[in-house]
Amino acid sequence: VLCWFYVFPVYRLPRDKDIVEEVLRQGDVWHKNQTGIDWYRKLLTDCCDPRRMFAVTKENSPMGKVLWYDGEFYHSHTVNNETYPLFVQDNPLHLPLKKCAVVGNSGILRHSKCGKDIDQADFIMRCNLPPLSKEYVEDVGTRTHLVTANPSIIEKRFQNLLWSRKAFVDSMKVYGSSYIYMPAFSMKPGTDPSLRAYYALADTSSNLTMLFANPEFLATVGKFWKARGVHAKRLSTGLFLVSLALGLCEEVTAYGFWPFSVDLDEQPVSHHYYDNILPYKWFHAMPEEFVQLWHLHKSGTLRMRVGHCP
Ligand code: CDP
Repeated sequence: VLCWFYVFPVYRLPRDKDIVEEVLRQGDVWHKNQTGIDWYRKLLTDCCDPRRMFAVTKENSPMGKVLWYDGEFYHSHTVNNETYPLFVQDNPLHLPLKKCAVVGNSGILRHSKCGKDIDQADFIMRCNLPPLSKEYVEDVGTRTHLVTANPSIIEKRFQNLLWSRKAFVDSMKVYGSSYIYMPAFSMKPGTDPSLRAYYALADTSSNLTMLFANPEFLATVGKFWKARGVHAKRLSTGLFLVSLALGLCEEVTAYGFWPFSVDLDEQPVSHHYYDNILPYKWFHAMPEEFVQLWHLHKSGTLRMRVGHCP
């Protein structure tokens, strides 16, 4: 059977309607493919070494090491007395992780009833400090093991932590004792807010552990997907996490990845499950990313959950 990513070359993306048809055609059929899983783990290990490199650690970033920002040209940070003590010693995760759930923020999660399914995973990753309040629990679950935080959220939602540290620390409590994964060394303006977030948590003996995303890892993952046809200024947070999960987990299921305007019943769907604020148009290439993820779903390398959970 011909499917749309063979019919349409990647640079001419299929329309939302074609994607809906393709996903419906596939239905709930999914077969795990261990060879595919092993192969992808090997590809990601060879390019990006997620086990060793996903976070900035004392081991991979000793004093004096130059960290090149992955989101800017020619900016770097040299690890010094101030920053070195903030790094974890080594990869703190107990590997390999078994069943991982990577939760994107698409509006497709709304009324999906995927909360239980997500919560059953052994390791749950979420993007951009998403709301987990009561009204969403049934659809997105409650547990979290790793959550990303973009420095711009610290700036906008928490006034750069200049006078709202308590509001920040309190709102982090929904993530239990998970890891907060911040790209502190990706864009120059993001470094200070990330360090402030670290101190706000450390000073209040929070249960959360700060992990700074290693810019070298983010850069190599970016190149990996570029070579596979994802052309964006920057990968979406969700694709970074799926790449991390493919490198670290025995099984990966992705929820909330659906950057299209209609759902499987062709009803309008919001960009996020909690709002409808759209990203800058040309910053991410989420539809291209979806094509790649769907390809991996069809080959049994990871499982995509689109629409309702059983
Ligand atoms: O920071 P970013 O704009 O990348 O992400 P977000 O809007 O907070 O959503 C988290 C992730 O979910 C994104 O990075 C995408 O990978 C995924 N997503 C999606 O696939 N479809 C959407 N409509 C929204 C988000």
